Amino acid sequence: MGLIPSAWAQQIKPSPTLEVKLIADRLRLKGKQIYDFGIGEMNPELPVPHLLKAAISQAVMDDATHYSPEAGDPELLEAIHADLHLFGLSYSPSEIVVCPGPKDAVFKICMTMLNPSSRRNRLVSFAPIYESYENLPILLTGKPPIVLQTDAHFLPDLNQLADLLNQDDTVALIVLNSPNNPTGTVYPPSLLQELAEIIGKHEQICVLSDEVYRTVVYDGLEHVSIASYLPNQTLLVGGMSKEVSGTGLRLGFVAGPEAVMQVIANVEGNTSSCVNLPTQKGYAHFLRKDADLRLRHQVRDALCLRREALMKRFSELVKGAVWERPSGAFYFFPDMHLYCGRRTPEGQLLNTDEALALYLIESANVVTVPGSKFQRPGHLRFAYAVSLETINAGIQRLAEALDQLCA
Ligand SMILES: Cc1ncc(COP(=O)(O)O)c(C=O)c1O
Repeated sequence: MGLIPSAWAQQIKPSPTLEVKLIADRLRLKGKQIYDFGIGEMNPELPVPHLLKAAISQAVMDDATHYSPEAGDPELLEAIHADLHLFGLSYSPSEIVVCPGPKDAVFKICMTMLNPSSRRNRLVSFAPIYESYENLPILLTGKPPIVLQTDAHFLPDLNQLADLLNQDDTVALIVLNSPNNPTGTVYPPSLLQELAEIIGKHEQICVLSDEVYRTVVYDGLEHVSIASYLPNQTLLVGGMSKEVSGTGLRLGFVAGPEAVMQVIANVEGNTSSCVNLPTQKGYAHFLRKDADLRLRHQVRDALCLRREALMKRFSELVKGAVWERPSGAFYFFPDMHLYCGRRTPEGQLLNTDEALALYLIESANVVTVPGSKFQRPGHLRFAYAVSLETINAGIQRLAEALDQLCA
């Protein structure tokens, strides 16, 4: 008998976005021109700011290559504390823990807050749901998340949530993600306040507020965290990945009530030891220099240009899609139901969004992620942190391929 991985670990699915990245990379290797709306990453279109790269390199040259305290380098904790003030949040450095990437921060919250042997051990989230929230509760407790659908604007139904919390005493953790992946939806402050009122009635329930896109909100909106309304029950996740193109630099953080943060710091110390110190030093320097958010707003403005180009192109060329205009992050999530159920020129039936996405890759070299990977079938996710040329030519190719489908 060979090695047997844990039954829970065996149930988790591969990351769909990383899977799509593999497909795109394979096509690229074959020398194909790819229109890649697959992975949610700004590199190489909007690279890491020079200031940050230089500070990381300098930290390496200064031999800042030892362990930091498990919760993070004090210099960085101080800088994150000051940065959170810019978003109206007041956390002391002892209420912050730095982790190797936002996904890892999410993992450590789940490890800390989901107790497999307790009755209260379920994670609740809203569909469309980001991959980690689907897989992590299975890995850690053997139980899938309780997934509540959202409305046509991708907003949660408050009555449904209130009913669930009143009737079901197994809920431990509720995940909110605004600005949202994969929809680009930004929750209005009034909704966050109402959510806080509902959840605040159940003081054992924790909110994991995933705010990795907090600096990417458009149309003059301001990012608001549920932590402003429910600080004692919220664990906030932020990080470098989507604010400064730092996906490969791997730095995220959690902020929350001190007693829980001490436990998360112990989890961090026993698993990752700490985040690589040059990145921590570099990010601290960056946050201090970007105290007016100017550099991060430049990134937001560049992404906003791309959103406009994508919306324009889509409305001109893709007549059968129905969509919500995204207000944040860099994702667009149109409803493509009209095209699911059509046939290719060769007569193949495209009866699912996955079949449609595959057809678009094969016939137009356009890479997207099917909505069913986020538990919202019939949609496609477009990550639009790409060049304007990719947007213009890619949507043209997509429209031509869609026009070839027969009813
Ligand atoms: C909502 C959300 N949270 C967390 C993450 C994880 O970021 P990373 O993979 O850089 O750790 C992502 C990445 O796409 C995301 O979209």
